[in-house]
Amino acid sequence: MDGVEMRDDHGGGKPSGGPSVDRCVCRGVPLSEVLRHLDDHPDETVDGIAEALGMGDRCGMCIPYIGLTIKTGRSSHHPIPQDGGPDRRTRPQQG
Ligand code: FES
Repeated sequence: MDGVEMRDDHGGGKPSGGPSVDRCVCRGVPLSEVLRHLDDHPDETVDGIAEALGMGDRCGMCIPYIGLTIKTGRSSHHPIPQDGGPDRRTRPQQG
């Protein structure tokens, strides 16, 4: 996965098992900085945070992880599938 560093960490508020994403690799900004920023700017948008912290302006792979950090309050996430994962809208109907 370009631009997003995946680690095989466990514990400490990280997702259990498997690789995780905890920073904007291009700019070296950890997602924990997003949480710190939200302490002072609780209504900040993803774009506002990215601009304030200097993230997301290269490959942009960290942008959805900023959103996940806002939504979950966690600074480490399971990788988001590059193909978007299973598309439930096109799942074949049963029966
Ligand atoms: S990971 Fe590339 S811009 Fe953040």
